[in-house]
Amino acid sequence: MSHVPVPKIRLNNGVGIPQLGFGVFQIEPDRTAEAVLTAFEAGYRHIDTAQGYNNEEGVGEAIRASGLPRGEIFVTTKLANDRHGYDQAISALDESLQRLGLDHVDLYLIHWPRPAQNRYVETWKAFEKIASDGKARAIGVSNFQIPHLKRLAEETATVPAVNQIELHPWLPQTELRAYHQRHGIATEAWSPLAKGGELLADELIVGLSEKYGKTPAQIVLRWHLQLGNIAIPKSVTPSRVRENADIFDFELSDDDVASISELGNGRRLGPDPDNFG
Ligand SMILES: NC(=O)c1ccc[n+]([C@@H]2O[C@H](COP(=O)([O-])OP(=O)(O)OC[C@H]3O[C@@H](n4cnc5c(N)ncnc54)[C@H](OP(=O)(O)O)[C@@H]3O)[C@@H](O)[C@H]2O)c1
Repeated sequence: MSHVPVPKIRLNNGVGIPQLGFGVFQIEPDRTAEAVLTAFEAGYRHIDTAQGYNNEEGVGEAIRASGLPRGEIFVTTKLANDRHGYDQAISALDESLQRLGLDHVDLYLIHWPRPAQNRYVETWKAFEKIASDGKARAIGVSNFQIPHLKRLAEETATVPAVNQIELHPWLPQTELRAYHQRHGIATEAWSPLAKGGELLADELIVGLSEKYGKTPAQIVLRWHLQLGNIAIPKSVTPSRVRENADIFDFELSDDDVASISELGNGRRLGPDPDNFG
């Protein structure tokens, strides 16, 4: 298997996370093992799944089939929306571990805050217990807005290691990223390619692709890396899986990074975290 030198970001508890990961949202359960094995072949060592993706078994199958040492692979899963609450969260992770065939994950995330339900603080206290029991090497959140992060800071003892949020050039999340930076929270970008369609045909991105001799997707992923984001592109197309990992041999100029950030227009492709669920 190839060895792409994917840099690691050090999380606030000292754990290293590869800055490029492989997302498996919407990969069919029976195609997941094959897709993850393709990603391992291409050099990825970080896989992002969730209880809600219904494909944790396939991720586990690929890990076993890969023959890679467990310590070389970084696995993230997420708590499903209907499992908020202390006891529910503890048992939900146990079930995920069973599906994955693992005794711990590297990162466990609260998938959505569901603020109307008002249980994410209680859920976070279960996550603290999960971390202290060694069932997750790091714990974090996903789709949390600043007020949700502030509540965790006021009412609990642990700062999330990661906040995984929708983030791409249309939605650069400048304010939230600045909050993360001030508080030692790593920013992880979901839908980093804005789902791969229109953004990759944008005039600026296509122009930069010609300038650097890289593909539009590689330009966008490089923008993420240079902003310090962790990016987890998904693809079931082997050539794209490899293309998305071939981003460590060039660098965008600071001006080009800034011009991509100027594409920001507030356009969300996923749900609004304040209302979802
Ligand atoms: N925490 C959350 O709430 C949340 C929400 C959404 C996603 N996520 C995570 O983020 C990951 C990625 O997000 P995403 O799947 O929504 O979006 P994405 O990675 O931005 O885009 C995936 C789409 O882009 C296409 N694509 C991939 N590489 C390409 C390339 N090099 N050139 C052209 N098209 C390309 C893929 O097509 P093919 O597959 O057909 O090649 C797929 O349709 C997910 O898999 C999941 O792990 C998390």
